[in-house]
Amino acid sequence: MKKLLLSITLGIFLIIVGCKGQNKLANTTQTSSIDIKVDSILALMTLKEKAGQMLNIGLPAVLTGNYWDSRDSAVYNVEKFNELIIKSAVGSIHNTPGYPAEKEGWYQIIKKIQDSAMQKSHLGIPVLYGIDNIHGANYVNGSVLFPHQIAMAATWNTELTKICGEITSYESRAASLPWNFNPNADVAMNPLWGRIGESFGEDPYLISEMTLAYLKGSQEKGLQDSTSTAVCLKHFIGYGAGKNGKDRANALIPENSLRQYFLPPFEKAIKNGAKGVMISSNAVNGIPCHINSHYINDILKGELGFKGVVISDFSDVEFLVTAHLSAKDKREATKMAVNAGLDMIMNPFDADIVDIIVDLTEKGEIPMSRINDAVTRILRLKYELNLFEVPYNNPKGYTKFASQEHIDANYKSASEAITLLKNNNNILPLSSTKKVLVTGYSANSINVLNGALSRSFLGRETKFNDPSKLTILNAIKKQVGEANIEFVEGTNYLEDINSDKAVEMAKNTDYIIVCVGEIPASEKPSDINELDLPEVQQALIKKLSAAKKPIILVMVQGRPRIIREIEPLVDAIVMVYLPGEEGGRAVSDVVYGNINPSGKLPYTYPKYSGNVLSYYYKKADIRDINWGYDGFYPQFEFGFGLSYTTFDYSNLQINKDTLAGSEALEISIEVKNTGNRKGKEVVEVFLKDFLSTLSPDSKKLVRFSKIELNPGETKSVNFVLNSKDLANIGIQNKWIIEEGEFEIQVGGNPQNLLKKGIYYSK
Ligand code: BGC
Repeated sequence: MKKLLLSITLGIFLIIVGCKGQNKLANTTQTSSIDIKVDSILALMTLKEKAGQMLNIGLPAVLTGNYWDSRDSAVYNVEKFNELIIKSAVGSIHNTPGYPAEKEGWYQIIKKIQDSAMQKSHLGIPVLYGIDNIHGANYVNGSVLFPHQIAMAATWNTELTKICGEITSYESRAASLPWNFNPNADVAMNPLWGRIGESFGEDPYLISEMTLAYLKGSQEKGLQDSTSTAVCLKHFIGYGAGKNGKDRANALIPENSLRQYFLPPFEKAIKNGAKGVMISSNAVNGIPCHINSHYINDILKGELGFKGVVISDFSDVEFLVTAHLSAKDKREATKMAVNAGLDMIMNPFDADIVDIIVDLTEKGEIPMSRINDAVTRILRLKYELNLFEVPYNNPKGYTKFASQEHIDANYKSASEAITLLKNNNNILPLSSTKKVLVTGYSANSINVLNGALSRSFLGRETKFNDPSKLTILNAIKKQVGEANIEFVEGTNYLEDINSDKAVEMAKNTDYIIVCVGEIPASEKPSDINELDLPEVQQALIKKLSAAKKPIILVMVQGRPRIIREIEPLVDAIVMVYLPGEEGGRAVSDVVYGNINPSGKLPYTYPKYSGNVLSYYYKKADIRDINWGYDGFYPQFEFGFGLSYTTFDYSNLQINKDTLAGSEALEISIEVKNTGNRKGKEVVEVFLKDFLSTLSPDSKKLVRFSKIELNPGETKSVNFVLNSKDLANIGIQNKWIIEEGEFEIQVGGNPQNLLKKGIYYSK
C-alpha cells in the first residue's frame, strides 16, 4: 500500500530511530518506542506540516456541493481534496458525508483519504478520523442503536455500559472510524439543558463510574487492537451547567464546585488512559473554555497529567469571535486558544487556520514548543492506534457487526434502564387479555425512541429507520396480538391531532397507555423555554382521565419534563429515557411483565420549575416559608425506581464507628427479595457530612451495586470506603477531611435508607 515516498520517509526516520534509540530500544516500553518514532517524524516536519496536523476539517469540506447538503453518495471535489488532504495534509477529519454510510461505504471513504494522505502527501502521515458515535455507532448505517447515555446511567449497571462501549467501538472500527467523540462526562446540573440525554446525569460519582466503564469497553483491549477506539471525553468543562439552561450558555462555577463536582469524572477517566478531551463551547464565569489556560494548561495537562489530544469543539475558534466576543478576529482567537493548550482545532470548513498558525508561530506569538507539544500528542495517538500500519479496517472482518449478540446487549440495556416511577395498586404488569388503547406522540415512532444523532444529526429522518425495529405500539401488538390493541395518535409533539377521537376510543378499553415524549434534538435545536411537558401532551392525559380508565404514562425523553399536574391522573409511570431501537420491545416487555423493571433515576426529577435542585443541595437551599428546612420537594428523587417485586434491607453493619487517618471502612447490608418475582435491585450507598466549613451537601453517592435476587433470596452486599470518600473540597479549594460526624446511608429507595453514624478523627 505504501508508495515509494512513504517508504523513503519511514526509512529515514527508522534510521534516525535506530541511531537515537539503539540502547534504549532493546528494553524500552511500547510507549517510549512510540515517543522515539514521534520525535523522529517531528524532526522532519515543516512548520506548515505541523500546523496541518493541528487541523480537523469536516468531511463535507472535500466533497462536492455545499457543506450542509444531504447526499446519497460521497463524490469528492478533486480540487479541494487535493488541497486539503494532500497539500495541506490535514491531521484529522470528522463528520459524516451527509448520509449514514454503511460500514463498506465508510471503508471506501476512509481508504481513499488514507491512501492519498499516506502515499501522496510529503510525509505520508495517516489521518485521524473522529466521529460522534455516542449511542452505538450511530453514524454507521445498520449498526445497533443503543440507548443514549442517560438511559445507560439509569441501568446503574457498569458492566452493561462497558459492553455498550465495547460494541460501539467494534462497530465504529468496522467502519474504519478509530476515534470516538464520546463518552460525555458532563455533569448535568440544569434540567433545562437539552443534552442531558447525552450525559450520564447529575451525580459526579455515577458519571465517573459510567464514564470509566465506557472507556474500558472502548480502550481496554489496547488501542492497537482493531476493535478498540480511542475515546474523546467531552466537554471540558461545565457545559452541563449553563446558567440559563441553554446550549453553550455561560456557567458560573466557583473553583470549589469545579473541583468537587465537575472534575472528578474527567480525572478518573484520564487516570485510566482516556486519549482525547474535547473542550466545551461555553464559557465558565465568562471565560470561554477554549481560551482558559488555567483549565487546559494548568488543570487538564498539569494537575491531571493528560497526555492525549485536546481538540476544540465545532468551529469554536471562530465562536470566540462571533459568539463570545472575546477575540477580535480568527487570528487573535487562534493565538489565544493554542496558547491556552488547544492541540487540534475543529475548523470544519477549510484550512485557513493552518496559515494563521504558521504566521503566529513565525512571529513568535505562539512558541514553537507549544506547536511541538500539540503535534507530538496528535502523532502519538496515531501511533498508539496503529494507523501508520493499519490505516483502515476491512469491514468483512467484522462478522459480529449488528449481530444477534450485539442486539441482545442493546435490548438488555434498554430493558435495564426503564425506570418504574409509579405503580398504584400494582396495576402493572398488565394482563395480555385486556383491551388497551395506545396513544400519544411517542407511541408509534422509532425516531423518538432513538433521539438525536441517529443516522442523522437531529435523528428525525424516517427514511434511515430500520423497518425491522418495533415502535412501542408495534411491539405491544406483536406481544399480545392486534385484536385487543387500539391506536390513535392523539397529539404530535406540540399539536393536537385527534385527542377527541382518543377520548372516544378510551371508553371501550380496559386501560390506556399514553406515550409522551420529546422531539429528537441536540445542541441549539434542543433549547426550550419551559421545562413542563408540552401543554398539548398534558392536555391529552387530562382529557383521557375523564374516561375513568386506568392510565399508564410512558415517558420517552432525555430531560425530566415537569408532569406535576398530570401525575395524579395516572396510575403508573414508566420512564423510558431515549432507549434506542430496541426500546419499543423493552417497553412492551415491561408493561406486560416479561421484564421486571430495575432502572433508577440518574437525576432529580423536579416537580416545579421554581424548585430545581440536584439532590446534593445545601441545607440553606431548602429553607422553607415556615423557616423550617422542608423546601426540597422533587417529583421523584435521584436514585428512585420501583420494581414488580419488593426488597427489604436489614442488618446494616459497619466495621468501626470511629475512623482515623486513612483507615478503610467496611460496610455490609442484607437485602432480601420479599416479593414473588425475581428482580434486580440497585443498592445505593450515600455519605452525609454533618459539619464542614464549606457548607456540606445534603449527601453524596459514594458506592452502588446492582444485584439480582430470586423470590425469598437474601444477599449480603459489601462495600469498602476509604478516607478519600469522606473528603470534600474545603475553602482553600483542596480536598480535605474535617474531623467530625458522618453518616452512612444505604438502601434502594432514597426516601427510606438505613443509616449509621461514624466519627472521623485525624
Ligand atoms: C458538539 C460536540 C460534537 C462536535 C463534533 C459539536 O457541535 O457540541 O459534542 O462532538 O460537534 O460533531
